[in-house]
Amino acid sequence: MQKPISLFFFFFFIPGQSFSCPQDQRKSLLEFKKLLTHNIKNHSTQIALGELKTWRPNSDCCKWKLVRCNAHSPFKEVSDLNLNGLVLSGSVSSTLLRPVLRISSLMRLDVSSNFIQGEIPGDGFVNLTRLISLDMSHNSFNGTIPPELFSLKTLQHLDLSMNFIGGTLSGDIKKLKNLEELILDGNLIGGEIPPEIGSLTELRKLSLKQNMLSGSIPLSISQLTKLETFDIQMNFMSFKIPDGIGSLVNLSTLSLSKNNLSGGIPSSIQNLTNLETLELENNSGFSGEIPTWMFRLQKLRKLRLGGNKLQWNKNGSVFPQFKFTHLSLRSCGLEGNIPDWLKNQTDLSFLDLSLNRLQGSLPKWLADLRFGTIILSDNRLSGSLPPSLFQSENLSILALSRNNFSGQIPETFGEASLMVLMLSENNFSGSVPKSIANIYGLLWLDLSKNKLSGEFPRFGQDSWLAVLDISSNEFSGDVPASFGLNTISLTMSRNNFSGEFPEEFKNLSSLKHLDLHDNNISGMFPSFISRLPPSLEVLSLRNNSLKGSITEDISNLTSLKVMDLSENNLDGTLPSNLGNLTGMIESPTSSSSVLYSAFSNKLPETESQDLEVNWKRIIQVISNRNFYLYTVLDLSKNKLRGEIPTSLGNLKTLKLLNLSYNDISGSIPQSFGGLDKLEILDVSYNNLSGKIPRTLSKLRELDVLDLSNNRLSGKIPESPQLDRLNDPNIYANNSRICGMQIQVSCSTTQTEQQPKEEEDEEEGKEATVPWEAVVIGCSCGFLTSVLLMYAVGHFRGSLPRRSPKNRGFKILRGLH
Ligand SMILES: *[C@@H]1O[C@H](CO)[C@@H](O)[C@H](O)[C@H]1NC(C)=O
Ligand SMILES: *[C@@H]1O[C@H](CO)[C@@H](O)[C@H](O)[C@H]1NC(C)=O
Ligand SMILES: *[C@@H]1O[C@H](CO)[C@@H](O)[C@H](O)[C@H]1NC(C)=O
Ligand SMILES: *[C@@H]1O[C@H](CO)[C@@H](O)[C@H](O)[C@H]1NC(C)=O
Ligand SMILES: *[C@@H]1O[C@H](CO)[C@@H](O)[C@H](O)[C@H]1NC(C)=O
Ligand SMILES: *[C@@H]1O[C@H](CO)[C@@H](O)[C@H](O)[C@H]1NC(C)=O
Ligand SMILES: *[C@@H]1O[C@H](CO)[C@@H](O)[C@H](O)[C@H]1NC(C)=O
Ligand SMILES: *[C@@H]1O[C@H](CO)[C@@H](O)[C@H](O)[C@H]1NC(C)=O
Ligand SMILES: *[C@@H]1O[C@H](CO)[C@@H](O)[C@H](O)[C@H]1NC(C)=O
Ligand SMILES: *[C@@H]1O[C@H](CO)[C@@H](O)[C@H](O)[C@H]1NC(C)=O
Ligand SMILES: *[C@@H]1O[C@H](CO)[C@@H](O)[C@H](O)[C@H]1NC(C)=O
Ligand SMILES: *[C@@H]1O[C@H](CO)[C@@H](O)[C@H](O)[C@H]1NC(C)=O
Repeated sequence: MQKPISLFFFFFFIPGQSFSCPQDQRKSLLEFKKLLTHNIKNHSTQIALGELKTWRPNSDCCKWKLVRCNAHSPFKEVSDLNLNGLVLSGSVSSTLLRPVLRISSLMRLDVSSNFIQGEIPGDGFVNLTRLISLDMSHNSFNGTIPPELFSLKTLQHLDLSMNFIGGTLSGDIKKLKNLEELILDGNLIGGEIPPEIGSLTELRKLSLKQNMLSGSIPLSISQLTKLETFDIQMNFMSFKIPDGIGSLVNLSTLSLSKNNLSGGIPSSIQNLTNLETLELENNSGFSGEIPTWMFRLQKLRKLRLGGNKLQWNKNGSVFPQFKFTHLSLRSCGLEGNIPDWLKNQTDLSFLDLSLNRLQGSLPKWLADLRFGTIILSDNRLSGSLPPSLFQSENLSILALSRNNFSGQIPETFGEASLMVLMLSENNFSGSVPKSIANIYGLLWLDLSKNKLSGEFPRFGQDSWLAVLDISSNEFSGDVPASFGLNTISLTMSRNNFSGEFPEEFKNLSSLKHLDLHDNNISGMFPSFISRLPPSLEVLSLRNNSLKGSITEDISNLTSLKVMDLSENNLDGTLPSNLGNLTGMIESPTSSSSVLYSAFSNKLPETESQDLEVNWKRIIQVISNRNFYLYTVLDLSKNKLRGEIPTSLGNLKTLKLLNLSYNDISGSIPQSFGGLDKLEILDVSYNNLSGKIPRTLSKLRELDVLDLSNNRLSGKIPESPQLDRLNDPNIYANNSRICGMQIQVSCSTTQTEQQPKEEEDEEEGKEATVPWEAVVIGCSCGFLTSVLLMYAVGHFRGSLPRRSPKNRGFKILRGLH
């Protein structure tokens, strides 16, 4: 029965054979498809099958989508495979590529963005002798770059960026004689750049950006005379830039930022007359004077010299003779007034002169130059701001923090097209113009640490404002709560806001961070607390005048990681389901940190939103890069009564628990032994009685303990951690506490064994993961960079004007 059928197929297909792709190639492709679709069984892996549907057995594979055949050769053979982005999530193994690599006629292969894991199957490449272009970027390849790749003589384009490839850059590189472009960005390639690189004389673009390369720039680099782009930024390269760099006459981009290069800047660079971009930022070893010839390079448009030890030549009357678009002279020892020669820089869109010693006022001519970004933070500038500054359509980022500016914020403020405005730590006074709410597209506003007063303006719901910091001013009136739906962070602490906690906060559905400490908020604890946005992670109302009790439904705030209600007049009992605050149970995820880590370095890192908490008895600043690591519950200095709910012991990730200065009675719950990560436990000045639970001996991270001024009794449990906490003040003013820690010996009745069940409870729950060291007091960029990335990335042009439907980060991400 079967024979006739196969015979039938045989006859049917033989005639088409010469017009169709070779059978073995079709087989290989189908095998690839099979391996790929096999992964769908894994639910976390998603595959885009749409175009692969055309890959059917018994059809001409040259007609399949994603496949192209060589039209010119007498035999149709597969030449191009564009397999990028087939895997949408999850991961697939690199062995998947093997069938594809058997197609030796391939000229162009793109397998980028496919979540491919594992090492590059190097041996598979030996027969791909016609390969011109290979793109394996945006995967998760690991291991080293296989030497087989270096023998692909015909290769002109190789992209391995955004993987986890490690190892060293091999000397085999010299085999890539005809390579025109070598891009190895964003891998973890280590080792040195081999001198053999000099034999790649065809290279036009060499990018080794963001790897782990060290050693020196090889002298042989001077042989790459066709080079147009040399980019090794973000590595660990050391020593001097070789003089020979001056022979690369066609070089237009030289990017050496963020390395460990030292010495002076070779004067041979002045021979690079085609240079358009010169980036030498953040090489702590560069020193000496900024050479004046740099300003004579005709085509130079982008110059970045910040973060070095290079010094501005004070005596020379140096000024650029050509027009820049980008100029960064951050921390270059500039002194005196803002230099006059900037007047002629009419094409400039980015200017960073932060961290210098500039003084005098911000001249009107500068305001009128229509720059896109002006960063003058950390100087000694003074006087008031010229009103025309805000009338520029072009200005999208203005950072003037930490200067001595004074006077009012001009009324023209509302006319600005700003996205980011940083005026922190100056002496601005008076009220903030109401028109500020008209600045459509304002994403980030930092007015903190000034002397601003009056009411803070109301923003409309369609405002884009995501981050606001107006802390440490003299604002008064009702707590501002009228903001746009994109609001993520509101820091309004240390002002004179009064009235009740506004119900409008309910509407801010993206709110994560609400800091209102040190104000005069009064009235009852908000009854609508559970209807605050579930995104809320930080709520600080410390030192206000709230009354009433904390309601049970607070546990609906499932993202809450920091709750500071200390120093109010709260009474009533502690809600029994405090222990249901999921945000304080789950281990810190990097979800918020993804946001933080997306911050690039466009602005000085000192620009940030920080949180102050009472940490180990001192008000300390948690850098908001680290917010997500902190879980804090501070209810101290209120009038809370009743017992400590057992459920509190559920809050496994809590680092600080402060219930001191209340009227809490009953005993310390056994369940506290479950507070694995607890570093600070303060229950002093309450009415607690009974024994100190043995389970406290499980708290391995405990560093500050205060049980004083209660009615506790019995023996202090022993454990390596508790034995260290031997300051008698920890236990002072209690009934009868004894223990070797405070050198009070226990009578026989006190040493008697506690019930067995207590001892065995929560066995095996001991903290084993040491808490990541956190930097306290370091202020690092928070939302900053996210916003700035977009802002500085010139996306302004593509920002839709007046389009209330588009909001916040979703769009921003898309644009990125
Ligand atoms: C499914 O994929 C996940 C991650 O992509 C991986 O950790 C897991 O091992 C895979 N499961 C199977 C059965 O392949
Ligand atoms: C390369 O070609 C040779 C000869 O056709 C063959 O034996 C070998 O298996 C091929 N290697 C790969 C990896 O396809
Ligand atoms: C590469 O990743 C695979 C799993 O994805 C792992 O088994 C292998 O050990 C890794 N190889 C290297 C060199 O890290
Ligand atoms: C530099 O570029 C020009 C124009 O592309 C070309 O004619 C010239 O040969 C190049 N110089 C070198 C040394 O490659
Ligand atoms: C930086 O370069 C110097 C030599 O200029 C070297 O001694 C030092 O180890 C390098 N540092 C790093 C982190 O590579
Ligand atoms: C610049 O090039 C000229 C020849 O083109 C050479 O004589 C001179 O020494 C070079 N200058 C530097 C500083 O390398
Ligand atoms: C540059 O280096 C300085 C310190 O030298 C550092 O504060 C700054 O964050 C660095 N900037 C970048 C963009 O790496
Ligand atoms: C600047 O002046 C100092 C001393 O006054 C001198 O040593 C230095 O050479 C001068 N620099 C230039 C470029 O003239
Ligand atoms: C500015 O440009 C004008 C002519 O365009 C020139 O005369 C003047 O010297 C320049 N001034 C500065 C400070 O560069
Ligand atoms: C300012 O913006 C206008 C129009 O948006 C543009 O034509 C001009 O080039 C910009 N000026 C600068 C200095 O970027
Ligand atoms: C709190 O959450 C629960 C379940 O998630 C819900 O049923 C309840 O309505 C919420 N309470 C309030 C007051 O929003
Ligand atoms: C709190 O969690 C417990 C279980 O841990 C659950 O039974 C209870 O319903 C939760 N309460 C609320 C208000 O979600």
